Amino acid sequence: MNEDRIIRLVETGSTNEYALKLLEKEKLPEGTIIIAEHQTAGRGVDGNLWESQKGRNLTFSMVIYPNYISVDYQFYLNKAVSLGVYRLVKEKLGEDTRIKWPNDIYYRKGKMAGILIQNGIQGNKFTYSVAGIGLNVNQEAFAGHDGNPVSLKLISGKEYGLDALLNELNAYLWHYLDMLREGHTEQIDRDYLSALFRLGEVADYLYQGRQIKARITGVNRYGHLVLEIPSQKIIECDLKEIRFLI
Ligand code: BTN
Repeated sequence: MNEDRIIRLVETGSTNEYALKLLEKEKLPEGTIIIAEHQTAGRGVDGNLWESQKGRNLTFSMVIYPNYISVDYQFYLNKAVSLGVYRLVKEKLGEDTRIKWPNDIYYRKGKMAGILIQNGIQGNKFTYSVAGIGLNVNQEAFAGHDGNPVSLKLISGKEYGLDALLNELNAYLWHYLDMLREGHTEQIDRDYLSALFRLGEVADYLYQGRQIKARITGVNRYGHLVLEIPSQKIIECDLKEIRFLI
């Protein structure tokens, strides 16, 4: 990994916000990483706060220019980044690692990592994309319980070096981003599906405010989750319509 492309911060509000502000002023080289030891206002999806104890985890944002995919296919970016993080966690912890749709990394029933991608779009092309990744590494207790947070250390008992981990993660991310750039979308689809949490299992969800039992069958080309409910009906939902009951 090229050290020149890493901006290391002791503290910032949010590395995603920091990256977005910098991008307003200058074109950062592709692959630039903004990493903070501590975020005072780390952002999650839905405006939630991302909890991370100072110096214990990886909280960073990577700048990508995915001008090779049209906006209609933006879920592929999400798949590639999720797979990169998934592969690292799986390498450390093994088979019980999954991607919970759309882009959370789970180990069994605990959330290990979250991803927040923010894009600049012009017409149907991306001008830039900021992939924010929060991976829980050495933190041993969490104040919030949303998503049941866990860390690598809570599962393996081991302490991890953050720099080495970032290096490995960077390599996995580029493995998948290069695959996307080269157009190997079928391989990405296969890998994403085989990593998907609860694929083919009947489980409980809140769908449009009602509790249902359903079975995930896949993800459509817009990135919507496809589920089958026992009456054989197929539903396709976006993030606002469905909540996993775990
Ligand atoms: C989620 O809610 O699951 C997404 C969490 C994303 C957190 C990361 S930490 C680094 C980057 N900066 C932020 O403010 N958020 C992302």
